[in-house]
Amino acid sequence: MNTNELVKKFESLYNQKPVIARAPGRVNLIGEHTDYNEGFVLPAAVDKEIVFAIQKNETSKVQVFSMDMNQSATFDVNELKAQAGWVNYIIGVFAEVKKKGVAVNGLNIVFAGDVPLGAGMSSSAALECALATGLNYIFGGPLSKIDLALAAQAAEHNYAGVKCGLMDQYASIFGMPDHVIKLDCRTNKHEYFNFDFSDFALVLCDTNVKHSLASSEYNTRRGQCEAGVKAIQVHHPNVKSLRDVTLQMLDEVKGSLDAVAYARCSYVVEENIRVEKACEALKKNDFAAFGQFMYQSHEGLQHKYEVSCKELDFLVDCTRDNADVLGSRMMGGGFGGCTINLIKRTAVDKFVSEIAPRYKKETGLDMKAYIVKIGAGARIGE
Ligand code: GLA
Repeated sequence: MNTNELVKKFESLYNQKPVIARAPGRVNLIGEHTDYNEGFVLPAAVDKEIVFAIQKNETSKVQVFSMDMNQSATFDVNELKAQAGWVNYIIGVFAEVKKKGVAVNGLNIVFAGDVPLGAGMSSSAALECALATGLNYIFGGPLSKIDLALAAQAAEHNYAGVKCGLMDQYASIFGMPDHVIKLDCRTNKHEYFNFDFSDFALVLCDTNVKHSLASSEYNTRRGQCEAGVKAIQVHHPNVKSLRDVTLQMLDEVKGSLDAVAYARCSYVVEENIRVEKACEALKKNDFAAFGQFMYQSHEGLQHKYEVSCKELDFLVDCTRDNADVLGSRMMGGGFGGCTINLIKRTAVDKFVSEIAPRYKKETGLDMKAYIVKIGAGARIGE
């Protein structure tokens, strides 16, 4: 994102030169709702980001101006209590970075971004990671990259109230251009895979809906997985999370799990297997196989995990008879946001020009399309 306007605004408001800190949103190719079950995910950072202009003001007050909202807010670093509205995310990051040992103090801030809001590209993780990176830098903090991702996640848990996994914040911090990140959410270690875009493109289709269920159902799913693990532990005391559960084990305990818990758990166990297989396919540049795993992932999310919605299902169904599309699935938490589609590069324009009117006819809503460019992770600098 071009930072000229941001810097100009900062200088005119505070009469100082700022430091720039930035972090991207993310896509996820496969591995959905597996992160908080200690499973595998395959996200990548995108070239859309949230950018902060910041400078110390030698007081304990934080003054923030949001360019996108055209609103300002203030708070004191000695009173980091949750507040309503967007400033809550900022307060959350100050609090969690401070808890991890950064001596935060007063700051002047202007921020802006081009990560679409509510589209499931993790604009909130981008905000949290950009600010955490900026605070750590400007206050000479000791935090490593993983600490920054964990602080950003804690802000989401303790201030935004969503008990998310680590995928979004991890991808935002560790992103690398042209690479997807296979993250093992048990060890918090990753492996990069080159994604060869010469013949294929990733295209997001934005449903333009965000059903209000999203955050409550998210926490419910988390609870259902934990309940499933407890029930499995009765027979298999060594199991710590769904990561330890095999399909065979699940079959053995099927009778003692309620049908919903069984469906949720079997989705997660299968999705972990799919991520592993999808990575094997990626190593061989077998995009056809990769695409099939994407469709299977969607099926599980739709029928077993039940986090899709009719708009997402419609967009995925539209691709099924299109030979130019190799794979399609809902992306992120669900209940709205985007589908992610793996498409022959030469067919992208045709695909978008056909699917958008079909979506409009079906739902009355406009569909936006984003062609994904994989970008770099959080960093300091213009
Ligand atoms: C949201 C959460 C992530 C992850 C996904 C689903 O994006 O923030 O941690 O759980 O949903 O895969």
